[in-house]
Amino acid sequence: MSAAAPLVTAGGARVPALGLGTWNLRGRECAEAVVNALRLGYRHVDTAAMYGNEREVGEGLRAAGVPRDEVFVTTKVWSSDIGQGDLQRSAEASLARLQLPIVDLLLIHWPNPSIPLKDSIAALCEAKRRGLTRHIGVSNFSIELLREAAALSSEPIVANQCECHPRYDQSALVEECRKLGVAFVSHRPLGKGALASDPLLRRVGAAHGKSAAQVALRWHIQRGLVAIPKAARRAHLEENFAIFDFEVSERDMAEISAMSRGA
Ligand SMILES: NC(=O)c1ccc[n+]([C@@H]2O[C@H](COP(=O)([O-])OP(=O)(O)OC[C@H]3O[C@@H](n4cnc5c(N)ncnc54)[C@H](OP(=O)(O)O)[C@@H]3O)[C@@H](O)[C@H]2O)c1
Repeated sequence: MSAAAPLVTAGGARVPALGLGTWNLRGRECAEAVVNALRLGYRHVDTAAMYGNEREVGEGLRAAGVPRDEVFVTTKVWSSDIGQGDLQRSAEASLARLQLPIVDLLLIHWPNPSIPLKDSIAALCEAKRRGLTRHIGVSNFSIELLREAAALSSEPIVANQCECHPRYDQSALVEECRKLGVAFVSHRPLGKGALASDPLLRRVGAAHGKSAAQVALRWHIQRGLVAIPKAARRAHLEENFAIFDFEVSERDMAEISAMSRGA
């Protein structure tokens, strides 16, 4: 087993800096990926009502035999369900599918301009008070929306999960999260796999005996972000977790960030 992932702390939550993304993982392949990941040392799994795989994620969590309190489980409420009442019902349905009494983090998956944010945030806070989730957060929120959400919320907004990778470094949003004490969780941290063949990342990795994907993930960790790469293949799961034994130099970090098309 590789070294444990460091923890990113925000709003009272301790979020393992590397998690397993599960979008597009279905059926047996999903349950197996969760089991393999947990056995390799992952302690953070990301799912969503919309992924249609919460049952299999729950199955994998139980089959891996890792104590529940050692794993950070995130799920999300789809944007059509973020009104008062609907959000709480969606969270309950997620828990029933996962067969868990509580998740660690419940996120609004996407903002919905036709539902007042005030209502969604109140519903999210109520879900926490009712013990459906330990922490609450948002996903795909802009700087303005995140500020609004933080101002409206009576509970800490622990995370904003957004697309981020070396070709899209989200520097302004990352900075705002830092100011607000919100963890930035990078989804698509490998650019849907495209970064695994990036020449610059390959060159940086070669000096450390690491792959381009490992350098990309290390870039997130060294920025203080949480990354949730998806991997069905065991070799990928293993590779993505073996990133806590090397350091990308400041110069290489800057060169990698310069690939970004901006935020
Ligand atoms: N909140 C949101 O709106 C939102 C949106 C998108 C994604 N997400 C979350 O973020 C997670 C990650 O994003 P993503 O799945 O879109 O993309 P990603 O993690 O950037 O890339 C996943 C792809 O990269 C491949 N891969 C993984 N490790 C690799 C490695 N070491 N070398 C080469 N290829 C590798 C995977 O292949 P195999 O699967 O074949 O191993 C898969 O095809 C999602 O699963 C989901 O949990 C959230």
